[in-house]
Amino acid sequence: MITGNETAPVIKTVPGENAKKIIEKDGSYLATTTKAAPAAVKEARGIVFEDVDGNIFFDFTSGVGVVNVGHCHPEVVKAIQQQAEKFIHFAGTDFYYSVQAELAQKLTAMTPGNWEKKVYFGNSGAEAVEAAMKMTRWSTKKKFFMAFIGAFHGRTMGALALTASKPVHKRRFFPWTPGVVHVPYPNPYRNPFGIDGYDEPDELVNAVINYFEYTFSHFVPDDEVAAIFSEAIQGEGGYVVPPKNFFRELMKMAEEHHILLVDDEIQAGMGRTGKMWAIEHFGIEPHIITSSKALASGLPLSACIYPAANDYTVSGAHSTTFGGNPVACAASLAALDILQGGLIENAAKQGTLMAKRLQEMKDSYEIVGDARGIGLMQAIEIVKSKEGKEIAPKIRDAIVDRAFKKGILLLGCGVSGIRFIPPLSINEEQLTNAMDLLEEAIKEVM
Ligand SMILES: Cc1ncc(COP(=O)(O)O)c(C=O)c1O
Repeated sequence: MITGNETAPVIKTVPGENAKKIIEKDGSYLATTTKAAPAAVKEARGIVFEDVDGNIFFDFTSGVGVVNVGHCHPEVVKAIQQQAEKFIHFAGTDFYYSVQAELAQKLTAMTPGNWEKKVYFGNSGAEAVEAAMKMTRWSTKKKFFMAFIGAFHGRTMGALALTASKPVHKRRFFPWTPGVVHVPYPNPYRNPFGIDGYDEPDELVNAVINYFEYTFSHFVPDDEVAAIFSEAIQGEGGYVVPPKNFFRELMKMAEEHHILLVDDEIQAGMGRTGKMWAIEHFGIEPHIITSSKALASGLPLSACIYPAANDYTVSGAHSTTFGGNPVACAASLAALDILQGGLIENAAKQGTLMAKRLQEMKDSYEIVGDARGIGLMQAIEIVKSKEGKEIAPKIRDAIVDRAFKKGILLLGCGVSGIRFIPPLSINEEQLTNAMDLLEEAIKEVM
């Protein structure tokens, strides 16, 4: 039985015969989604999982940014079991239980901003984003939203309107919620302004802020914009870290125009970057934060944390049956304790090591065009050549496939990137061994 302390993957054949049977059945009965690798899990602990054929892998996806405290952390499992024995559901929208109020109180205290806050609980990231859209429209009585090109905020019709990372998310789905205007994101490596954002970060930030003003002077009535939505670090769109002073300038501009700033921390939050919230690296206090994924360490839960002054003044304007489920809230309280008990520091420490290894790979290999990230939210971008920066999704996919066959489960991001998001409990030996295997995979495809 795996423990989570294994120091290296052990691979026999992938996919094995048992995995193939599951994959075939899945193909027959499940909706087509975004399957990325033939990984069929049997059990998982910490950063390690065993598949149904006895292969042992390192999970460098954390279930897409969910199990930040590691798979099946014993304290989370215990919290789930204890709550499940008391009651599993009681509709926190209509009635009361303490675990939900306790978690809400904790979230309001641990999010930036020294003002009174309230929490809306949903079940998924997209629901938290929808909640932020509805709440900002309702409370400001303004109709428009602004968001960034490259952003991913979810796939429901409101969240999808904000999402602008890949056409496949939007093709054949129009009309989504109307009233969203997109502006370029300050992507230092690739942006429509032709600015090298690593060399000229201020110039890039100014170009984006000026672009906002340009939209206000031509077609966006600024007094009708309810909120600007931004990920602190763009996730699905490519793990893009904006220049250090971007959010300060964005916040200044938003406040000048009386627009609320919603910081989507659904992927970047919960300690992943070495701070509880990724926005803490940028020195601002956003008006609203959305959280999900790692919030309950594997159980479905999301939260929109917003100023109490923006709360609904009527009952029934927004609500959902399962939001703030007691078992999920109990898991979340346990996960927060674990994160605050040393894992966030470990994310910063191991993240520094990972960033160093990825930068070295960037310096050594022509096809690694960029390496970027904060803490344990890191990515590389694969290109045909450093000079031309031509995207190379096929080479990227080949690296991901080779890494999988060596026992490292990875996911792409953006058009040509690979993200590295292991659980924050990873240790130095595990990280070093995984980076060695990744480097082998890169060399093999060159
Ligand atoms: C930043 C961000 N926002 C929102 C979402 C949507 O979350 P969900 O898939 O739970 O609806 C995601 C999912 O990847 C995300 O990364």
